[in-house]
Amino acid sequence: MSTSAVDYLLSRRSVKFVQAPAPSEQQLEQILQAAMSAPDHGRLRPWRFSLIQGDAIMKLADLSIEATRRAGKPLTDEKEASIRKWLSKVPLLIAIACRIDHSNTRIPEHERMLAVGAGVMNMLNAIHMQGYGAFWSTGLGTYVDEVNEALGFDGLDYRFMGYLAVGTPIEPATAAPERPDFKEFVTEWK
Ligand SMILES: Cc1cc2nc3c(=O)[nH]c(=O)nc-3n(C[C@H](O)[C@H](O)[C@H](O)COP(=O)(O)O)c2cc1C
Repeated sequence: MSTSAVDYLLSRRSVKFVQAPAPSEQQLEQILQAAMSAPDHGRLRPWRFSLIQGDAIMKLADLSIEATRRAGKPLTDEKEASIRKWLSKVPLLIAIACRIDHSNTRIPEHERMLAVGAGVMNMLNAIHMQGYGAFWSTGLGTYVDEVNEALGFDGLDYRFMGYLAVGTPIEPATAAPERPDFKEFVTEWK
């Protein structure tokens, strides 16, 4: 029986532990293009992505760990080791930012961030449909100015929104995770 697009949406889950191969160049283009279909009030196109691959991944690990410590944020040696172990296998990180176009004062900032989030959701679904795994993380110095600046997303013009770690799931997929019943979250207003 073929899997419908909605079945894919219902079966998506995050996969933190991934390894090579990453999506091919053509698949990655499809993933990034999927973000362009996000709803976007005012056509501001606020989404910005930076691809981090190969040696650049451990370079980012060094940078984010050192900058996190310099910023005085807590980071134990155990946590550092687990971050390095995780990233040593990850073949692709996609850094995510929302560009704040200060010339537009009509669209509130939260709507711009929602547009970026919707684009990232499209990417997560595209990755899942292609048979790869991905995990959205706001670790790796997401809230450290030095890291944001090093990635080209300074806090004046951007809101840095973390990373997608993308690749082939290391563990074979298990049964779909337990999800809440939508009825708990839906009412009817009359
Ligand atoms: C904006 C955003 C940032 C996140 N950052 C982290 C994070 O830093 N660490 C973490 O363990 N999970 C983080 N998560 C949650 C995971 O990406 C994932 O959604 C969660 O493990 C639940 O898995 P599921 O997507 O299969 O339900 C984040 C989710 C979002 C939307």
